[in-house]
Amino acid sequence: MLNIKTCLLGKLIQIITDIPLMQREADRLREAGKRIVLVPTMGFFHEGHLNLMRLGRKEGDHLVVSIFVNPTQFGPTEDIKAYPRDFERDCAMAESVGVDTVFLPPADAMYTGGYQTYVSLERLPLHLCGLSRPNHFRGVSSVVTKLFHVAKPHTAVFGEKDRQQLIIIRRMVRDLNFDIKIVGGPIVREDDGLAMSSRNFYFSKEERLSAPVLFQTLQAAQKLVEQGERNSRRIIAMAGELILSRPHTRIDYVSICDPETLEDVDQIDKEALMALAVYVGKARLIDNTVLHAVRD
Ligand code: PAJ
Repeated sequence: MLNIKTCLLGKLIQIITDIPLMQREADRLREAGKRIVLVPTMGFFHEGHLNLMRLGRKEGDHLVVSIFVNPTQFGPTEDIKAYPRDFERDCAMAESVGVDTVFLPPADAMYTGGYQTYVSLERLPLHLCGLSRPNHFRGVSSVVTKLFHVAKPHTAVFGEKDRQQLIIIRRMVRDLNFDIKIVGGPIVREDDGLAMSSRNFYFSKEERLSAPVLFQTLQAAQKLVEQGERNSRRIIAMAGELILSRPHTRIDYVSICDPETLEDVDQIDKEALMALAVYVGKARLIDNTVLHAVRD
């Protein structure tokens, strides 16, 4: 039996917690000629997630959102238990943007006793966030592979906020011949430019005031590039100064790199990815933009 639950808005949204049931439902939808769209998440929704769901809505007939706080992508010093959760609220928000199915597998069903199979990429995880979170992307690529096998989507949607994750998923899908279209959704920001994140709930008032410096730094970098600066090292130096001028900040990395390989680039011609990870208080924030060298 499918678990069908009424959410706050009163419409029906299907909630599936069982893995084989989700697979059978996906088979049924495919047999009926429906196109399945998957938006993988760890829940505690904000406008960034909802926007991906709206994008997903347009990509197919049946929109599945998975909520799974994936233990294998958390490091030993990262507290998975502290990850914010509010299933009832998530369910109501998902319904408000037209989600058909919420897939909510329990952790012990995703990782049964004796679990030992991982998908890992050789080079892309050695850059940016992978440096300070060594097994993070192995956990991400593995769980996304599992979610693909369970929800069997035609299309899956990921946010540009986690640009390295998106690049890794695109690479994995190409390398392993997953017959799935990957759609990237733009970064959704607060009015002051702070990229929306479940981590934004951890701030003190003072820290919250420092948090928009990531976006301000990306904007300042783009301005320098527009003014003719092409040297990555000088832009990174400016970025470091600007970030550290704000209280409670500590830099994990500031990188200007190739948008496909994530290898550092010394000179910016045409396009380069600028990516940042900065601690503001205890919260580790990330942001990125593609720098465009406009030629006259
Ligand atoms: P989570 O952090 O919940 O994010 C789910 C999706 O929302 C990701 O694709 C992420 O890039 C996107 N997202 C988050 N904040 C965003 C914002 N401000 N603007 C646009 N998109 C945003 O990313 C994960 O979960 C996990 O790693 C997951 C892919 C589910 C695998 O466990």
